[in-house]
Amino acid sequence: MSRALAGKEVSQRNSGYARRANDNYPTPAWVTDALIPHLPIKNCVVWEPAAGSGQMVAALSSAGFDVAASDIANGQDFLTQPAPRPFRAIITNPPYELATEFIERALSIMPADGFVAMLLRTDFDHAKSRQHLFGECAWFWKKVVLTKRIKWFDDSDGQPSFNHAWYIWAAHSGKPTLAYGP
Ligand SMILES: C[S@@+](CC[C@H](N)C(=O)[O-])C[C@H]1O[C@@H](n2cnc3c(N)ncnc32)[C@H](O)[C@@H]1O
Repeated sequence: MSRALAGKEVSQRNSGYARRANDNYPTPAWVTDALIPHLPIKNCVVWEPAAGSGQMVAALSSAGFDVAASDIANGQDFLTQPAPRPFRAIITNPPYELATEFIERALSIMPADGFVAMLLRTDFDHAKSRQHLFGECAWFWKKVVLTKRIKWFDDSDGQPSFNHAWYIWAAHSGKPTLAYGP
């Protein structure tokens, strides 16, 4: 699997369904709206580094954030290239195959007074191999479980569907907390 997943039309999974090129699954607005009340800072500059067709950018802008958007489809690889402009927070729905790398990269460039929020499968924090991002990570602050399943596109009937959660990293004291969204 190439790092950027670039150039792939679709890849066939063992389950038999085809994933979209670059994992381009636009996020319905309600999913981003569910994150907003849980964020530690409002009205700052947010970098959405895997913006795709811009659904998350639109929802964040509507919520009052100043959003800097980029995507590998427009020539900007989040894993290797600098931000388009100074930012305080990173919020995205990373491509599944690169989710760990996206979180590691985001935490390595997050301002000390900022935050990172990622939409991931709800069991993403279970793996032992990822504990440096969760149980052993001093920045890991909050998990917001979405109690409704995400329908990724209009014709998604019959496609595999997973439960998701928002994961937020920010400076804080105390242990990480758990919350529930719609
Ligand atoms: C799941 S979609 C998310 C789209 C958008 N964030 C949303 O939620 O509506 C993942 C996006 O990641 C982009 N992508 C894949 N690899 C990338 C990389 N290395 N750097 C930046 N973007 C990448 C894809 O082009 C795709 O648009």
